[in-house]
Amino acid sequence: MMDGLLFLFALLSAASAFHLSDQDEFHFKSWLAQHNRVYTMEEYYNRLQIFTRNKRRIDKHNEGNHSFSMRLNQFSDMTFSEFRKSFLWSEPQNCSATRGNYLSSNAPLPDSIDWRKKGNYVTDVKNQASCGSCWTFSTTGCLESVTAIATGKLIPLSEQQLVDCAQDFNNHGCNGGLPSQAFEYIFYNNGLMTETDYPYKAIEGICKYEPKMASAHVKDVVNITAYDEMGMVDAVATRNPVSFAFEVTPDFMHYHDGVYTSTKCHNTTDKVNHAVLAVGYGETNGTPYWIVKNSWSTTWGINGYFLIERGKNMCGLAACSSFPVV
Ligand SMILES: *[C@@H]1O[C@H](CO)[C@@H](O)[C@H](O)[C@H]1NC(C)=O
Ligand SMILES: *[C@@H]1O[C@H](CO)[C@@H](O)[C@H](O)[C@H]1NC(C)=O
Ligand SMILES: *[C@@H]1O[C@H](CO)[C@@H](O)[C@H](O)[C@H]1NC(C)=O
Ligand SMILES: *[C@@H]1O[C@H](CO)[C@@H](O)[C@H](O)[C@H]1NC(C)=O
Repeated sequence: MMDGLLFLFALLSAASAFHLSDQDEFHFKSWLAQHNRVYTMEEYYNRLQIFTRNKRRIDKHNEGNHSFSMRLNQFSDMTFSEFRKSFLWSEPQNCSATRGNYLSSNAPLPDSIDWRKKGNYVTDVKNQASCGSCWTFSTTGCLESVTAIATGKLIPLSEQQLVDCAQDFNNHGCNGGLPSQAFEYIFYNNGLMTETDYPYKAIEGICKYEPKMASAHVKDVVNITAYDEMGMVDAVATRNPVSFAFEVTPDFMHYHDGVYTSTKCHNTTDKVNHAVLAVGYGETNGTPYWIVKNSWSTTWGINGYFLIERGKNMCGLAACSSFPVV
């Protein structure tokens, strides 16, 4: 009886919000099958409604004249506020280097560079799952690449060690942290274990770091001065991939391909909420862009990557960038 009432209520509230057609339900069902998602009866109508709103937003965006396209993905049954709670930083991190310690090379820079194509320097795209641990993936991604460039060996490193052990450096496991602070942790704690030896669990646990099992080390941490995007270009061109943070707003959730740009996001250090890894840059039809590795699996974006406009501190991407020296 109770279930029946709830069901009826969910049905009525869904129907009263906007018109749901058979077509909408058809799209939802094929998305459910594709993503192996199962709900209770009440949840089904709630999710159908959220999914349909997302799908209409995506279709409308794709009909317009934009530099990037959107598509359905693993997040399509979530509202942005649910997404933010599970995947992004909930509170601002201490991310600003008013005076960074990066010295620009002042060398002539190439028009484009892609560390994925220069050699075996970038590990496969990973999946942070439902945990605000993006900062650990940005950190391992950067250290993996910097180490590979120095040694010729590309070894996946442990995010879980950072989730479990790096709290003393203002990091907060699944609730956020910063690559610069994670590099400091690795520096002072003498190393980071491999992904295999300390696998990812997407939940905070007890620190199980064993120094004798450390695989990668950090000799120094380099912060690029806040908003010095040319410094980032210089570092990526002449040194290695660089960790950075930016502000994710709702239209980024369903990014598919093209150069992401937004008029909705903020551009300051206190607003950034997601950390990623710049592995290169380029230019298309006069629009300069960054090539960025994300940690939302290969099913999101361009096989797990995205392009974002370069040269405008888009969404605060130049607010807090850093890399380790090995
Ligand atoms: C689409 O946008 C581009 C870049 O803003 C602009 O140059 C072009 O004229 C637009 N095309 C149409 C059909 O509006
Ligand atoms: C920012 O830094 C202060 C001082 O080190 C610290 O107490 C605070 O927890 C930090 N905030 C975050 C979000 O890490
Ligand atoms: C780099 O920035 C972080 C804050 O994100 C700070 O804790 C650290 O001391 C800075 N390191 C250097 C070498 O300036
Ligand atoms: C942020 O964007 C505003 C508006 O476009 C601009 O005036 C300001 O200079 C930007 N600030 C930074 C730090 O990039």
